[in-house]
Amino acid sequence: MSVSGQEKLKVLIRRAAIQKRVREVAHQITRDFKGERVHLIGVLKGACIFLSDLVREISLETSIDFIAVSSYGKGKQSSGQVRVLKDLDSSIEGLNVVLVEDILDTGLTLSYLLRVLQQRKPRVLRVAALLDKPSRRLKPVKGDYVGFTIPNEFVVGYGLDYAERYRNLKDVCVLSLPPA
Ligand code: IMP
Ligand code: MG
Repeated sequence: MSVSGQEKLKVLIRRAAIQKRVREVAHQITRDFKGERVHLIGVLKGACIFLSDLVREISLETSIDFIAVSSYGKGKQSSGQVRVLKDLDSSIEGLNVVLVEDILDTGLTLSYLLRVLQQRKPRVLRVAALLDKPSRRLKPVKGDYVGFTIPNEFVVGYGLDYAERYRNLKDVCVLSLPPA
């Protein structure tokens, strides 16, 4: 893996642990929606890898859609402003929706998305997040299905990026930047 400049990566969660936990979360979803269909909505781009692995472990009728929002600029700080860049392709009225997020951080993105999606009258609206950084929360939101609770570190890999890089790492890693 090529790491630019003085950026440093340290493995936080190994691929095998991610794989095991994703399977457990999928089984939980399968149990909770037994006999029903679930509609997974991935929040682009960070959730694309988590969603791809998750959906293949769910033993139910499923469908998927994606929504893209921007809440961060190029770096690590939240601008606090959320905008829909790409909306859903189809209606979610009456569906069992699981919103799939890479990470819950301040909760600004999730609280905005929940408000927007709830207005579209899904039957059920739940949240699956691979990672949760509860110490950073500004809005009182929580995931129904959380892979791992992590400390307040900036992480990349398994879909998560820093300035669009590192999404292809198989492990979730802590990224340290050189002092500014
Ligand atoms: P929130 O609105 O602050 O909860 O942040 C949501 C989005 O910020 C996530 O979906 C990520 O795309 C991004 N984000 C938050 N923390 C991290 C991190 O540690 N690494 C990479 N992206 C992050
Ligand atoms: Mg991001």
